[in-house]
Amino acid sequence: MPMSPRRRILVTSALPYANGQIHLGHLVEYIQTDIFVRFQKLRGHHAIYLCADDTHGTAIMIRARAENRTEQDLIASMRQSHLNDFQGFQIDFDHYSSTDSPTNRRLCSELWTALRTAELITSREVRQLYDPVAGVFLADRFVRGTCPKCSASDQYGDTCEQCGATYTPTDLLNPKSTLSGATPVERSAEHLFLKLESLHAFLENWTQSSGVIPREVARYLLGNFLCDPLRDWDLSRPAPYFGFEIPDAPGHYWYVWFDAPIGYIAATSEWCDTHAESLDSWWRDATAEIHHFIGKDIIYFHTLFWPAMLHAAGLSLPTKVRIHGFLTVNGQKMSKSRGTFIMARSYLDHLDPGMLRYFYASKLSGGIDDIDLNLDEFVAKVNSDLVGKVVNLASRTARWLEQTGLSEKYPDDGGLFSQAAADGASIAEAYEQCDCARAMRIIMLAADRANAYVDSMEPWKLAKGGASHASRLRDVASVAINLYRQLIVYLSPVLPSLADQTSVLVGGLIQSWDDSQHPMEGVAVGTFQPLMRRVEEQDVEAMVAQTKQIQELDMNDPILAEKSDQSIDSGESLAAEPLAAECSIDDFSKVDLRVARIVSAEEVPEAKKLLKLTVSLGGDATRTVFAGIKGFHAPESLIGRLVIVVANLAPRQMRFGMSEGMVVAASGAGGPGVYLLSPDTGATPGMRLR
Ligand code: 2FM
Ligand code: ZN
Repeated sequence: MPMSPRRRILVTSALPYANGQIHLGHLVEYIQTDIFVRFQKLRGHHAIYLCADDTHGTAIMIRARAENRTEQDLIASMRQSHLNDFQGFQIDFDHYSSTDSPTNRRLCSELWTALRTAELITSREVRQLYDPVAGVFLADRFVRGTCPKCSASDQYGDTCEQCGATYTPTDLLNPKSTLSGATPVERSAEHLFLKLESLHAFLENWTQSSGVIPREVARYLLGNFLCDPLRDWDLSRPAPYFGFEIPDAPGHYWYVWFDAPIGYIAATSEWCDTHAESLDSWWRDATAEIHHFIGKDIIYFHTLFWPAMLHAAGLSLPTKVRIHGFLTVNGQKMSKSRGTFIMARSYLDHLDPGMLRYFYASKLSGGIDDIDLNLDEFVAKVNSDLVGKVVNLASRTARWLEQTGLSEKYPDDGGLFSQAAADGASIAEAYEQCDCARAMRIIMLAADRANAYVDSMEPWKLAKGGASHASRLRDVASVAINLYRQLIVYLSPVLPSLADQTSVLVGGLIQSWDDSQHPMEGVAVGTFQPLMRRVEEQDVEAMVAQTKQIQELDMNDPILAEKSDQSIDSGESLAAEPLAAECSIDDFSKVDLRVARIVSAEEVPEAKKLLKLTVSLGGDATRTVFAGIKGFHAPESLIGRLVIVVANLAPRQMRFGMSEGMVVAASGAGGPGVYLLSPDTGATPGMRLR
């Protein structure tokens, strides 16, 4: 089969935020990209896979503060955790950088200068909500309040989940900062904008005619953005902000979405430095291809803002923006309470990464539809396809070749090897289109034919037939092992580990797609070692149970409990986990612990673990506290009881109302209960603990 000339292909996945762990939703993209890159390398092309941690923004700054550490410390530990997870799933980056690197800072400056020179930057005052307690301007997601249109309470600062209205956070009624619970104030600050409308004609032409993005996405952009004048894009944030300060605008920082995609170029630059290649040969050379893999949630950053920046700076535009959908688990959005918000680490604790790689491959067809990880289907498919069809071919025939090796001449197999070799063209075409699902279907059909061959030849009978059948047995087993290895060549982008194990068994390293085109003759066969074990339902159940257990821990914190089903991978959402940093006596004395009397208690019907308590701290004033103790205490049994309350905790806006304190309770190591703390007899509401 003629191979195309050696292409140079730069491939990226979206840079994961450094404020959260990798979960199975993220892995759809990293696995999809990794398969694509491994496939291109196998075809002999010069492909490089680049990525980085996306480290800047308010979310990281707030989280670092909450955990009482520096941002650098936080992003360094998150980087290590991301790298461990990626390695666990055999995601093979050629280079993994950080957007907080000196290279990225330098490249940001260069692109910025290009935008300034092209007179594409303008500035104006922006009125924004500001949290006077946290001391930060509030992105839309950090403000909640009452919808100005339908009066639904507890809505985000940009859209109402009840009526779908969109607005600005300053329109919200009774707004509260989700960071501190404080009522935000309006403040004005200068912001720097990219004049996107100046590039309207270019963007319309590029998105609509270049074939770089899927047609339905091009239509969506035309119908939703390009049909009107493009609004200026706000590229800066005033201090305090964790990011790079803009050299010609002190006190202003590049918005995280400005420096994040430039991280693609910075990663390339760092890779070039260690591989004696020039950055321009990738980013200023039309013969190099650039493929960005992204999820459908970040389309306009990669199809409008990013190309605008590249175009203005005279850099190459993406050859393809490859867009995938979201992951659902058992047909529903991933959910912590259902135990389906599964972290990469939890999966790896229980299951083989190759199995998820294969399952995702069998679902990914290159389109933007969501893919579903149905856990029953996962077990059935992996066992049937990988264990039952592919690995089984080797496990039931390899041992007959341990002494003799493969037949000296490839035997007559009725055309099976050539048929599967011819399939190589369509399999390669499918991989090229990112239609892995189609590639897997073609491969499994070839596996079915190979198994039917073994069944019909009944080698186990030949094995009992003694010396007179030895040569026939060797031939039949040689056909089976050749067909097996041919399948493994095709599957190797998806199952690199299985490919490595196979290389030890027979034929050495799989280094080229061409290995699928010629049968092996007369080569040695190693001692058969089990290649993959069946996945058991208990393994999956254990993973889900572990996920639920992590959720239970969160549930004991009423604040985290009510956020548990939110997506945690948004850069503007907070995913702080309760971490116990060291606390000085001065720190501790800031906590105002008071004796309080519960005056009313009721269940919050919509919340699994919450009771709504009204507590008195003495005098007439009462407070509302949402406590994660439902199921452990009957509400009526609590009325009149004295408890200990954190009285100076910043109020928190929850879905069911404002929580104005915290009731102290013990839980954890000794069992599942939640035990309220009470003072000795004689204490009265309002007394302070010291
Ligand atoms: O959506 C996200 O998770 C972002 N961190 C992706 C950034 S991709 C690129 F532009 F840097
Ligand atoms: Zn509304």
